[in-house]
Amino acid sequence: MLRIVRAVALLLIAVLGAVWAYAWATRTPGESLADAMASRFATVFGGGGAPALGGLSLPQGLSLGGPFTLVDQAGRTVSEKDFAGRWMLVYFGYAYCPDVCPTELGVMAHAMDLLGARADRVVPVFITVDPARDTPAALADYVGRFHPRMQGLTGTPDQVAAAARQYRVYFSKVENRDTTGYLMDHSSFIYLVGPDGKVRALFRPEMKPEDIAGAVTARMAEARGGNG
Ligand code: NI
Repeated sequence: MLRIVRAVALLLIAVLGAVWAYAWATRTPGESLADAMASRFATVFGGGGAPALGGLSLPQGLSLGGPFTLVDQAGRTVSEKDFAGRWMLVYFGYAYCPDVCPTELGVMAHAMDLLGARADRVVPVFITVDPARDTPAALADYVGRFHPRMQGLTGTPDQVAAAARQYRVYFSKVENRDTTGYLMDHSSFIYLVGPDGKVRALFRPEMKPEDIAGAVTARMAEARGGNG
């Protein structure tokens, strides 16, 4: 039985890799790899139609999320154990991001508001992929603009890379000749993480806050029904 589960998991990882390669090969000029990956992913797993209320469900056997060691915006070292027993909405990005990150963090904050009292059981978390610029102090200032309870996590480059690997997050530094700074190309999913630290759903860019809140509510109800 375990062997079958492992085989299915390996197969799904291979499928994810294939989607990435497909996105890489077929992206149109001007389309970021992150956007291409999101849309191809949606085509493969979501049928290419409108976003489902539940977001993209994880295929059985595919496990995303897991242990991490990072540094919070107060400078404390934290791990997945500090969030155990609570739900998380997790987004990977960087504070200098000109457009996508602010939009998605705004969506996440809006979804939190729509959850009402249920939001008390959910921690919104922003994990930077740009630890060189996103210091704890910089993150404290940044996440506070979106939601009073949002946690900003950074760390050493190795800690950040390890956390990103757990969530299969793609990121890459892009030098920009037009400005003094650099950009980070990165995948852009919002992850719903259960009290056990495993990803329960992922939401693609531009999903509506109403749909995310609805999906979170549904997954919470499911978990309660299933002894979660
Ligand atoms: Ni961004």
